[in-house]
Amino acid sequence: MRKRVFSGVQPTGRLTFGNYSTMRHWPKLADDHDCIYCVVDLHSVTITRKPEELRNETRKVFAALLALGIDPDRDIPFIQSHVPAHSELMWLLGCHTMFGELSRMTQFKDKSARHATNVNVGLFTYPVLQAADILLYDAHFVPVGEDQRQHVELSRDICLRFNGRYGDVLTVPEPLIKGAGARVMSLSEPSEKMSKSDPNENATLFVTDGRDTIVKKIKRAVTDSDGAVRYDTENKPGVANLMTLYHISTDKPFGEIEREFDGRGYGVFKAAVAEAVADCLTPVGQRLNEYLSDAAQLDALARRGAEKASERAVKTLERVYNAMGFYKC
Ligand code: TRP
Repeated sequence: MRKRVFSGVQPTGRLTFGNYSTMRHWPKLADDHDCIYCVVDLHSVTITRKPEELRNETRKVFAALLALGIDPDRDIPFIQSHVPAHSELMWLLGCHTMFGELSRMTQFKDKSARHATNVNVGLFTYPVLQAADILLYDAHFVPVGEDQRQHVELSRDICLRFNGRYGDVLTVPEPLIKGAGARVMSLSEPSEKMSKSDPNENATLFVTDGRDTIVKKIKRAVTDSDGAVRYDTENKPGVANLMTLYHISTDKPFGEIEREFDGRGYGVFKAAVAEAVADCLTPVGQRLNEYLSDAAQLDALARRGAEKASERAVKTLERVYNAMGFYKC
């Protein structure tokens, strides 16, 4: 039996090269895993959102899953709020999650500091909904970026606690973190993570950027005056970040990149990085636009994904209700 994979992406803002770096592995995983990928719209309302924007971005990110190569015939792409079992399981798991555990989540601490006027309960219980996502589909592996490791580990702890009380009801998940250490940083402030909400447009590469925009942004990226293409995140964070972009786009190891650009200067190097990034992103951007231009097809694919996901989710939820002793007739 093939192992199952589940992951989720929030429909907030445009997808960045950082998102691409995590999500590009998702279609490949389907060669030897049973894969379920979800646009986690419920997770995205812990910050206040305009209704029209939530709707549009959910569609866009769903289309992006397909554009990246997730195959609706083979995999299960769907939208979280279309499967009510997520919210239901969340309540049951919440009764097996400790206040202290949630208080220790670094994302909660960061986000509550950043949105100090809206520290809502959803922000606090966010990881319980994430555990429900993962456990509903009996996922063995959860491919995420390094920043989500703590949440997946909490899902694992909740799962072990639940199984400890009621027997082997749920599958114990583990995080699958590829390319750890190769974090994508801001082009203008390479000590900070590349962020979709950066007010400086030139700091962030978006999946939908055209070739010219990519060339322009990379040309302006911060480097240093030393002139050597060498991987040193501490002393040469700008160059190291451009090397990371090139590494993600070409799969070449850092040593090979150093040799390739030895003595050739930053102009040549930047041009090559921009070409490589554009070669990766522009086909995705094109397919994304194609999916978005056929609303009826996109809706049909979203409905089909939700049906396939529901079939599985409902079974797990039944198992959980039964294990806990809920009266069913
Ligand atoms: N919290 C994840 C993020 O911000 C998104 C997410 C929600 C997720 N549910 C998930 C990721 C389940 C993996 C599995 O990136």
